[in-house]
Amino acid sequence: MAKQIRIAQISDLHIKPPGKLAYGRVDTAKALERCIAALNAFAPAPDFVVISGDLADAPSVEEYVYLKRLLAPLKLRFAGIPGNHDSREMMRSAFPDVAYALPSGPLNQRIEVGELDLLLLDSSVPGKPHGELDAPTLQWLDTELGSSRDRPALLFLHHPPFATGISHMDRQNLHNAAALAAIVQRYPRVRHIATGHVHRATLTMFAGRPCTICPVANHAVDLDLDQMREPSFRIEPPAFHLHIWFAGERFGSLVTHHVPIGSFDGPHPFFDPDGRLL
Ligand SMILES: [Fe+2]
Repeated sequence: MAKQIRIAQISDLHIKPPGKLAYGRVDTAKALERCIAALNAFAPAPDFVVISGDLADAPSVEEYVYLKRLLAPLKLRFAGIPGNHDSREMMRSAFPDVAYALPSGPLNQRIEVGELDLLLLDSSVPGKPHGELDAPTLQWLDTELGSSRDRPALLFLHHPPFATGISHMDRQNLHNAAALAAIVQRYPRVRHIATGHVHRATLTMFAGRPCTICPVANHAVDLDLDQMREPSFRIEPPAFHLHIWFAGERFGSLVTHHVPIGSFDGPHPFFDPDGRLL
């Protein structure tokens, strides 16, 4: 079997201060606890976990302190990127040991996991809900991608660079998607672009590469494709994404699995001990 590297992606944790529910209704801390239990139990273990933004909710120092307490049981290596609900400064102080690429401003990171380069891009715009990759981030991305010709690279950022059809979210997606596309198109080693923000599993092609939005463990944005309702959320089945890279010709191949969180009946065998269908 081809060698594989497993990258789990969880997104949009929206951790509130202890005891507070999001929108007076969603226990985002409990949702994260269930998600971490699922990640810890998954076998074979993921090699790395990316948290693609909106780690906190308001944000506040108290929320990041609580977030760190909730993340403590996670047995896997992880890294977070800011979303529009985060504060760069508070994240820098909450995770002081992280080797961010730039000494101030956007919290970009390159993480090597075996043969893979994970490039984590900070698309947050302080004080605004939409996303944008600023000039230093675009420059950094271009330089990083130019630093190798053969290592497969996965990009992670909070804001999707495409429209989903959910208009109140599309207004606050990545506003300079064309600038990202122009860079991605120059580097065949970019194999996937993984995002968050919309709280639901979504797939498209962007700049010729697969591009996904990660599902969440808490509340999903209502799939309202015709502005029939006020911006709303629903409690849908919780899930995370598992991106699997398989070694192979050129850059190998990448597959994304949608992994439901919870305990479900099974697994049950398809065949009896003699190999007959049950
Ligand atoms: Fe967001």
